[in-house]
Formats: sequence, structure tokens, C-alpha cells
Amino acid sequence: MDEIIEGISDESERPPIRPRISVIGTGYLGATHAAAMAELGFDVVGVDADPAKVALLQAGRLPFSEPGLDELVQTHLASGRLRFTTDLAEAVAVSDIHFVCVGTPQQSTSHAADLRFVEGAVAGIARALSHDGIVVGKSTVPVGTAARLRELLGALAPEGVSAELIWNPEFLREGKAVDDTLHPDRVVIGGASAEAEAVMREVYARPISEGAPFLSVDLPTAELVKVSANAFLATKISFINAIAELCTAAGADVGVLADAIGVDARIGRRFLDAGLGFGGGCLPKDIRALMHRAGELGAVDVVGLMQQVDEINMRQRQRVIQLAIDACGGSVLNARIGVLGAAFKPLTDDVRDSPALNVAAALHLQGAQVTVCDPEATEPGRRMFPTLTFAEDATEAVAGAHVVLLLTEWEQFLGLDPVDLARRVRARIIIDARNKLDTELWSAAGWTVIGLGTGVTPASADTSLLQLAGA
Ligand code: UDX
Repeated sequence: MDEIIEGISDESERPPIRPRISVIGTGYLGATHAAAMAELGFDVVGVDADPAKVALLQAGRLPFSEPGLDELVQTHLASGRLRFTTDLAEAVAVSDIHFVCVGTPQQSTSHAADLRFVEGAVAGIARALSHDGIVVGKSTVPVGTAARLRELLGALAPEGVSAELIWNPEFLREGKAVDDTLHPDRVVIGGASAEAEAVMREVYARPISEGAPFLSVDLPTAELVKVSANAFLATKISFINAIAELCTAAGADVGVLADAIGVDARIGRRFLDAGLGFGGGCLPKDIRALMHRAGELGAVDVVGLMQQVDEINMRQRQRVIQLAIDACGGSVLNARIGVLGAAFKPLTDDVRDSPALNVAAALHLQGAQVTVCDPEATEPGRRMFPTLTFAEDATEAVAGAHVVLLLTEWEQFLGLDPVDLARRVRARIIIDARNKLDTELWSAAGWTVIGLGTGVTPASADTSLLQLAGA
């Protein structure tokens, strides 16, 4: 903080208080944000209701896997700028800015977001306030939530204490969370007074000095920026997956097509990888919550669009299941299937709404003997689907397989030796559900590589291999 304040020449621009920070919720978002704020020079206390999580973090360990985050947490536990507690009231009492980073999962009985944790956090902060402060929402919420939370804060804050609620959505990706938080593409602040905006400019002084645009907008726009960004990314993925279906029918190659359209800067190549589609703790639930909220507000086009995006995405899982059935000659009953991947994407152990695990579980349900492996997500995968078999590594997972499925594109899997693997399987058929394998290399080792929208289907594969698969 000192170096940030030193960088300001005009004394009058200094914030009236030296902001100390509390971060409520220590999941992917909160743990990363707390460590990043400490890295930016602030005194930070992270709060979580789960004592086991707090004990792990306070010991410099993470309750989940995220590259580089454990080192950052350890560095700042040691620097003295970061600590964790279960005591919300104590954390609020020693802090001036309170970041709300708790989860907003999908409700179990509807598409709407479950706002209990956000409401609980804001109410808890409000009751514990002992001096003026700023409450900064970072969780992804349906538009209109922040205005309600502002009323809640006003109603519960002790008399004589002034607390302002603003929104500051977070755009971090799992697997790249540390970098995304320290070097964001943009900083969006919603509903801030001039004083609160000045404090936020102090908090994000380093990213701003590195060139990140600082966008000060109203409360509903800030909430909608986040969900719209995720909805657009999801739409891009479903668009390319719809085109992949067309490519399959027409004998075209969706990867080459994506490269060709992606060079147009208006389109861009990123998020145009066709395959098994999106999963994880954010995109699926965020587009469903948007669908729900848009319906409540009468924005029917958004509802229709998001419904299509969701349906196309879920059909990709079904398509891969069908490809596996076709590759096994029409039924997977008693077939041995080796599955490479359990996490919803590489570089994480997160299996929430993982397309990979969904496909593995569906094939298991149809009578296949499914063995899954994943570099990081074995334990979370086993907890979610205890009936699936998990192997230590890829060679064990594919042993005796009638068909192999690549469902999460970990580097470890892309670097596998197809010649070595060929000796371990019953039939050399691999469904590359992420279109990421070096097809020439694998074909040279005798494999039939079946992608999504790449022109090779089980029907066009070598029939002798299919007979073997049925053996
Ligand atoms: C996403 C947003 O990217 C992030 O900005 C937001 O804050 C949270 O939600 P994340 O859930 O970590 O982040 O994953 P992301 O990297 O966006 O990938 C989402 C899913 O899309 C993965 O399952 C991935 O495999 C899939 N995907 C991604 C594709 O199928 N094709 C692509 O081209 C890109």
C-alpha cells in the first residue's frame, strides 16, 4: 500500500483511510482475490464459514488445485499481509473494504441462482460493521440483486456507520486465476460514489498502471457485464459446435474452418474449439441464471438464445456417447472403455458439471466397464461418481479397451505415445472429443481417430477395427 500511495503526487487524491481488506468466501474466486490483494500490497483477511478450509489455507495449502496460488498464499502468509479466519465479525472489525466472493450456485429446483450465501454475507458484514466501509460484491449475480443488497446493508448497518455497496465483477478463469486477477483485461466498478471510485482506483492502481481499462458504470450494468461476457463465450462455443455438426454432414473440417474464420479480428480464434462443449462451475449455471432472470424481466430473445446455446452444448455430450456406442458396434454393454479426463477442462481439479465425467458415467450406466484417469481430478471425480473406476495413469486406464475417449485435453494426454498405447488396447480407436490430437501421428501408429466435425466418423473408420472392437 505504501508504494501505491507514494506513487500519487497530489496529496488531496489520497483516500481518507488506508484500506484494509476482508474477503468473504475462500473458493476459487475468494482465495485468489485475497492472495492477489496481498500481492498488491494490502493487509488482507480471508473469511470462510468452513473451518477445515480455513485451517488448510492458514497452513498454506489449498482446498482445490489452482496453478501458482499455493505459492502466492504461502508468500503472503509469510509476509504477514494475509491470514484466514472463520470469524466474520472480527475480520470486518479490522477492515475497511469488504469483498463478497461467496458462491451463487444454481438452485436445485430451478434455473435461478441461489442467493442465500450472498445475502448471508452482506447481512453478516452489515451487522458486524464497527466503522465506515465499502462492501464490494464480486460474486456473479442476477441483475437487480445488488440494488436489493444495498437496501439490506442500509437496513442492517449500525446507526452512525456509513457503508456503501458497489459491484466489481470478476472475470477470472480457473487454471489461470492468479494471472487473470493480478493482470485483468479490465476493471469494472458498478454504482460507486466518487469517494468509493477513488478507493477502488487505489486498490487496482497496479493493473490500471499496466493499462487495464477502468470502467465505472451503474449497478445493473456491472452485474450484466459479467453474465453477458459468459453468455457470449458460451454462445461462441455452441456456435462452433453447431457448425461442427454441419462439417460432419458435409465432410468438412471444423478446426481448419475455425482457423480460417478466426483470423478475422471481428470474430477472433479463441473459444472456437469445437468438441465436447463447456462445463464447470460458471458458464452452464450463469447462462441458466441469465435465462431465468431474462424471463422474469420479459426479455424473451435472451431466453430463446440461451436455451439454444444450452441445448447445443448438452447435445455434444450425447454425440460423444453415441460415437462411443457406434465405435463399439452398436452397444457398449460389457465393452471396456478407457476415458482420458475427468476435470471440466485442463489445469484444474474442478469436476462441477464436467462434460468428461458426464460422458463416462452415461457409458457406465449403459453397461460399459469404464476406467477414468485424470492428472488432478481423480479424488473429486471419485467423490462425484463413486461407481466409476479410476486408474493411476493413462496406460492403466486404456488397458484392454475397445475404445479410448479423450475428454479433457491435458498436455499429458496430448503427449502420450500412440505406439506404446496401441499395444495395450484391444482396438485402436480413439474418440478425440476435444479435436486436439495430432491425427497424423496417431493414424501412423494404426489408430482411427474420430473427432467432432473433423470428417472421420465411426462409419468411415476401418471396418476391421470395428469388428475387433466388438470382439
Ligand atoms: C469462465 C470464463 O471464461 C471466466 O471469464 C469467468 O469468470 C468464469 O467462467 P472457466 O469456467 O474457468 O471461466 O472456464 P473457461 O476457460 O471459460 O472454459 C469453460 C468451458 O468451455 C470448458 O469446459 C472448456 O473446455 C470449454 N471450451 C472453451 C470449449 O469447449 N471450447 C473453447 O473453444 C473454449
